[in-house]
Amino acid sequence: MKIIHTIAELRDELRAYRHPAVVPTMGNLHAGHLALVRQAKPLGDVTISTIFVNRLQFAPHEDFDTYPRTLDADCEQLEAAGCDLVFAPKETEMYPQPQTFKVHPPTELADILEGHFRPGFFIGVCTVVLKLLSLTQARTALFGKKDYQQLMVIRNMVKQFAMPIDIIGGETQRADDGLALSSRNGYLSAAERTQALQLSQALRGIVEAVRANPTMDAVALARLENQAMQSLSHQGWRPDYVAIRRQADLQPPQAGDAKVVLAAARLGATRLIDNMEI
Ligand code: PAF
Repeated sequence: MKIIHTIAELRDELRAYRHPAVVPTMGNLHAGHLALVRQAKPLGDVTISTIFVNRLQFAPHEDFDTYPRTLDADCEQLEAAGCDLVFAPKETEMYPQPQTFKVHPPTELADILEGHFRPGFFIGVCTVVLKLLSLTQARTALFGKKDYQQLMVIRNMVKQFAMPIDIIGGETQRADDGLALSSRNGYLSAAERTQALQLSQALRGIVEAVRANPTMDAVALARLENQAMQSLSHQGWRPDYVAIRRQADLQPPQAGDAKVVLAAARLGATRLIDNMEI
């Protein structure tokens, strides 16, 4: 496996390939990322992972400075998962000048849910993903379904810009107790880690309730959302949202729509997100 830090070296390497399959990451990898790499393997003639902690998608009060940078351990795991090439640029390589050209995704998709609580987040994500997909000449790119809205925003961006790239979603990987794997789980104290399963339990409860009564109307769905928010709050969480939405566009569902429930909540200083398709 080659580890490359500059765009010039990357372009040189890419001359040998026609169909890069790319897994963009911010590093501090876990089994979810590695599953994406294994999924990518048969989909291209070279499997590339990018590792770049993208300042543009962090608000000033968020964890950009403390986000764990674990390049050596990440590369060991990537090699074991069958990755061929790691592109891990420095910030000065990705943004030699301030990145003044940015991708602004549409409000109705990017300013709801995560975008509402993290203003500008999807501008940062889209801008870096566009750049990474362009740099790696991706023909297939894989993103985890744990970041459900991110996957949808990227899918729509690639479609609207007519980029010749297949966007593939990888299933959320979970710990034995149900907690969705995330780099941010490492911030949890031992006690918080034990408690963290309550988030997936809350979502599972909603999935079961809606499946048991698929014709629930908007009022009943809102009641379920509120009950889950209250129950998380009583257990010591600070929930941002628990929302049952239409899978197709994350808008409030109509009768018969395929649904997904999404949540974001803080446990202590750690903000976790999760979702489940219904
Ligand atoms: O999901 C992530 O790790 C990041 O948002 C991504 C897609 C690598 C862009 O920085």
